[in-house]
Amino acid sequence: MRLLLFFGFCVVHVSTTGLNEEFSWSRITYEWPEDGTLSSRFGRRSVIPLYTQNRPHLNADPIVFEGSTNADVNRQTKRKENQNNDNNNEADNVPESMDYQYVNNIPMGANVWQDKLFITIPRRRLGVPSTLNYVPLKNAKKHNVPLKPYPNWEMNLYPDTSDSKENFVSVYRTAIDVCDRMWFVDTGIVETLGNRTTVKPHQIVIINLNTDKVIHRFNLPDSVITPNTILASLNIDSPKGSCGDAYAYFPDLSGYGLIVYSLRENRAWRVAHNYFYLEPMAGDFFIAQHNFQWNDGIFSVELSDLKANGYRDMYFHAMAGTHVYKVSTRILRNETLATRSYHGDDFVVVGDKGPKSQTSTADIHKPTGTMFMALVNQNALGCWNINKDLKTLSIVQKDDQRMIYPSDVRVSQDKVYVLTNTMPEFLYGRLNYDETNFRVWSSDVRSAIQGTMCQGGRSA
Ligand SMILES: *[C@@H]1O[C@H](CO)[C@@H](O)[C@H](O)[C@H]1NC(C)=O
Ligand SMILES: *[C@@H]1O[C@H](CO)[C@@H](O)[C@H](O)[C@H]1NC(C)=O
Repeated sequence: MRLLLFFGFCVVHVSTTGLNEEFSWSRITYEWPEDGTLSSRFGRRSVIPLYTQNRPHLNADPIVFEGSTNADVNRQTKRKENQNNDNNNEADNVPESMDYQYVNNIPMGANVWQDKLFITIPRRRLGVPSTLNYVPLKNAKKHNVPLKPYPNWEMNLYPDTSDSKENFVSVYRTAIDVCDRMWFVDTGIVETLGNRTTVKPHQIVIINLNTDKVIHRFNLPDSVITPNTILASLNIDSPKGSCGDAYAYFPDLSGYGLIVYSLRENRAWRVAHNYFYLEPMAGDFFIAQHNFQWNDGIFSVELSDLKANGYRDMYFHAMAGTHVYKVSTRILRNETLATRSYHGDDFVVVGDKGPKSQTSTADIHKPTGTMFMALVNQNALGCWNINKDLKTLSIVQKDDQRMIYPSDVRVSQDKVYVLTNTMPEFLYGRLNYDETNFRVWSSDVRSAIQGTMCQGGRSA
């Protein structure tokens, strides 16, 4: 049966099979360290008893982080993904301890490699014990599964008491390439209410997923960073068979630019274009009964399969926007071409997705040319076959209760994964931490697009 929904003037085709709820959490907990190596850090008792995990106020021996508590600060600053709201903390009567405040652990990114489902939690508040984590994908339990820090606890602790000072400070989202490597930006910034503390420079980190070892770090130079820079997502162009020749693309959602990094040259450059900005008419959102205006520009970038010329198309969009744009990686990978002041027709307007089509992240399943889009202003996952007209954009699944704010979309092999995190309610209302707030959804790509106009691409 083919379902039709009507949004404004658009007829939208809806998938007949939709998504499966893979994991869900009402609040985020962790697998606390069990051995003695962290005992000095974690106080006399290295294991926090199970019965206190969901009730931190019962934990008499907390890991104390530096800085003021959220409860000390009684103000609200207005900044989109950086937005703050102290209602949650007052409401939940969180104690002074800052080791772990479940009310501040909002998962932002999800990604999959083999049996690991990675979950990232940026340190945008106090009380995030670990920023990069995973749960085993085949875990029998599916609800409120405690996160395991990745690759371990030591690498995720803040403040960093190690000699190397190489701990991960704050990670928004990750990318995994065809060479079994995870890439991300450690923003190096710890945010508390109304206070951003720069601990270290923005750093590209690459981990070999087969060995769980960090194999490369690169500090982004000041020349590619602006005072407003926020690097919250990335995509990797990594040809199989020549893993050393990878390029990474980082949209700067608040500095309105794009950073390109060449692994072989170990060098980064910054690309400027007006299409990276917000679209002024498309900044209004209505999500979870909250009206707000955001100003995020280029938010995520997606790569097509290789084209006849040996390059890919990089698609991109502003979060506060409804258009899709593209540019060839032939331009981006050549620093001279990428940074020239006049770009001629390098950048192409693909089209307008239509009303309420604002998208946080998106990703492309290359064999079928299917782009999956997190339609935040519709609480939906959309799909579009990049070889077709943008008018064929379809809905895979929409749910105003259970899919509030799809924050990350990732294609892994032939499956699509979506993280929904109810963030507008966290920012502007009050999350109920006894209800399910965070979900990871999944589907086989071909099943997700069944019955939609995304079917029928190349080799689909
Ligand atoms: C921000 O946090 C840092 C580190 O905790 C502290 O030194 C600084 O005084 C704080 N700034 C403000 C404005 O609260
Ligand atoms: C980059 O583009 C310029 C201008 O077209 C060209 O001269 C140069 O050879 C290119 N560099 C590489 C490495 O392809």
